[in-house]
Amino acid sequence: MKILITGGAGFIGSHVVRRFVTTYPNDQIVNLDKLTYAGNLENLRDIEHAANYKFVKGDIVDADFIQNLFETEQFDAVIHLAAESHVDRSISNPIEFVMTNVVGTVNLLNAAKTFWKGKYDSKRFYHVSTDEVYGTLGEGTEMFTEETAYDPHSPYSASKASSDHFVRAYHDTYGMDCVISNCSNNYGSFHFPEKLIPLSIHNIKQNKPIPIYGKGENIRDWLWVVDHARAIDVIFHKAKSGSTYNIGGHNEWKNIDLIRLLCRIMDKKLGRAEGESAKLITYVTDRAGHDLRYAIDATKLKNELGWEPSLQFEEGLEKTVDWYLENEKWLNNVTSGNYQHYYEEQYQNR
Ligand code: NAD
Ligand code: TYD
Repeated sequence: MKILITGGAGFIGSHVVRRFVTTYPNDQIVNLDKLTYAGNLENLRDIEHAANYKFVKGDIVDADFIQNLFETEQFDAVIHLAAESHVDRSISNPIEFVMTNVVGTVNLLNAAKTFWKGKYDSKRFYHVSTDEVYGTLGEGTEMFTEETAYDPHSPYSASKASSDHFVRAYHDTYGMDCVISNCSNNYGSFHFPEKLIPLSIHNIKQNKPIPIYGKGENIRDWLWVVDHARAIDVIFHKAKSGSTYNIGGHNEWKNIDLIRLLCRIMDKKLGRAEGESAKLITYVTDRAGHDLRYAIDATKLKNELGWEPSLQFEEGLEKTVDWYLENEKWLNNVTSGNYQHYYEEQYQNR
């Protein structure tokens, strides 16, 4: 199979590319990425010379480019992760989110519709989405299931919800083989340090304030990114056409409790006195429209496809801290902006 993976230079995409390139040596993996601020080819340094891997720089918003790529590459399947993904950025610049997340997704669907005509049964379009499309839960024990009605609140989640609707529409209208998964918050290596966990690790290391929005009482369900990539693998290969799966860790944490745990781990790793890093916790103005709680019920995925998270959160968080401490160069290149030269240095003259 030749599989197009979009957004493969990003956080989750790089883990998905690595998994497919190394697990399926007989499949060809084409990673299409625009290399926005969130795209970093250093994330894929370990597999960039693999025989079954190719990188293409390009923008999913450019319909002609996407049509040409489908024509020349003759893909058998798409795993679509490219997106603008940060809620705070969506609040300050919603249009970028409409363009990439909605228009970009429809461009890919259109190209697939055109080039796969008459062969829809043997070609798969897998759309990677988020639990944020379901809106927010109260503090109780209710969880998002695949039946929960969409109720997005941020421009990010509204754009992802819209893209999900388009994917379903292409399945229902044209009979294309489409699959969607909605996952909870991911954490792990190669996570861009604007998101809560890597930002906090970076700031603790630098002795800088850890910004906690509001009272820190918002709840997120955290999943190790490698487990998300495992879930995508199993869904891609086994799900029925038109199906949807929720992916989550059954692992809810109030932001402030998570950050306190992280501070304890960092004190230990950095040889600081217990309680030292927690002094950096700083409450700041809350995010506008901040969803209170996300919690995923991933029972369907477990019962139908046998997937379960492989790692306990405390262990995963410690592993993640170790990774950031051992990969100082990666973090420095990201925070200095140097990572943006990697493409010109390593790829352009090949
Ligand atoms: P990310 O921001 O780290 O990576 C996104 C990637 O998409 C980057 O490499 C970027 O360069 C690329 N990209 C952006 N615009 C593009 C365009 N117009 N054309 C081509 N490439 C473009 O995001 P992530 O956290 O890895 O998320 C990947 C996907 O998973 C997204 O669709 C996101 O909605 C979804 N998701 C993320 C989480 C999470 O916790 N991060 C949870 C559930 C679902
Ligand atoms: P984030 O990592 O941005 O993911 P998402 O908004 O997609 O859930 O944020 C996770 C939680 O942490 C969310 O409730 C917002 C909060 N948060 C902070 O308190 N401080 C921060 O600096 C950031 C980036 C997030």
